[in-house]
Amino acid sequence: MSEDSFLDDGTWEYFWHPVCTLDELESADRGRGPILEATLLGRPLAIAKTSDGAAAFENRCPHRSAKLSLGWIKDDIIQCPYHGWRYRSDDGVCIEIPALPDGPIPQRARATRYDCRIAYDLVWVRLKNEADTQIPAHPVWDDPAFKCVMGPPYSWKTHAARRLENFTDLAHFPFVHPETLGNAQETAFEKPVIDFEPEARLRFRYVPASGARSAADSTGRMSPLAYTDYTITLPFGVTLELALQNGERSVLWLWASPIDSKHCRSFWFTCRNRDHDGPDAPHVEMQHRILNEDIDIVESQQPEEIPHPRDEVAIGPDKVSLTYRKCLHSLSKAAERDAADGVAQYISTARKGI
Ligand code: FES
Ligand SMILES: [Fe+2]
Repeated sequence: MSEDSFLDDGTWEYFWHPVCTLDELESADRGRGPILEATLLGRPLAIAKTSDGAAAFENRCPHRSAKLSLGWIKDDIIQCPYHGWRYRSDDGVCIEIPALPDGPIPQRARATRYDCRIAYDLVWVRLKNEADTQIPAHPVWDDPAFKCVMGPPYSWKTHAARRLENFTDLAHFPFVHPETLGNAQETAFEKPVIDFEPEARLRFRYVPASGARSAADSTGRMSPLAYTDYTITLPFGVTLELALQNGERSVLWLWASPIDSKHCRSFWFTCRNRDHDGPDAPHVEMQHRILNEDIDIVESQQPEEIPHPRDEVAIGPDKVSLTYRKCLHSLSKAAERDAADGVAQYISTARKGI
């Protein structure tokens, strides 16, 4: 990490991030099997569907560096598009070189493989596994009372941390979302009270301004909110529980996946404990409306990365942002100091350490 960087993006390599949806992977089959290209933290990846889930590889053939994502996946074997070398998807070992049928196969002919799993119909990748991190929890995915609908993922030109901050920023509601999340007449915000939970989660409650309507009720109409509970899971996840005044509940779940230090792709679900058979569209459209109000402003923030504290001015109501930044910074420092051990230790003791 350079002296001037507030956060070291290498830190996030120890965590799981979604790189595509399962549906995107399955529909990537263009006669070559389900294989596609993705980028995580600047690393080009080839993602392939296999018989027991999915596999992720550096998107580079060890022979002459062609992209494996342009090749084939069949019977759990990935074949390079250039000279047809074939690699096992479970360990990346080359098992056949068509130009040299009798071998020998060089020992270094092995595609670089990363941890890859499917959860919540998303394909997750972890570039470094030494910190033993977990795929973040989705609190209502398995709860039969809730119906979860995946919204279309979207890419913004900003760092994943800026995107997370925007999602958990309260004081922008009256200006950016005066008719949905906020009320243009109610601009004052208290310092939120933040609780720390195990596994590096930050939690706070916000009671929306009067008139704020940001969830569709069982009739499909936008309905007033009683309160909202935010839970941030480090580094880039957030769950927002919305309680409607009529007792119904919605849960928004989001992970901002870092494509690189200036771009992220948000994967998200809207979940509701009512009206499972009703139309999903009002719930997804409401989020679209809110996102469209945010995007130009968030993409205008320069630099895209979280800057050094001396380069921006903060006040009391920015407490969530300040706390979140402090956590990311401490995590980043722990990784710089003690690599995987530092990350593992920070995650297990964050509650005491902040
Ligand atoms: S570049 Fe992949 S087989 Fe030659
Ligand atoms: Fe917003």
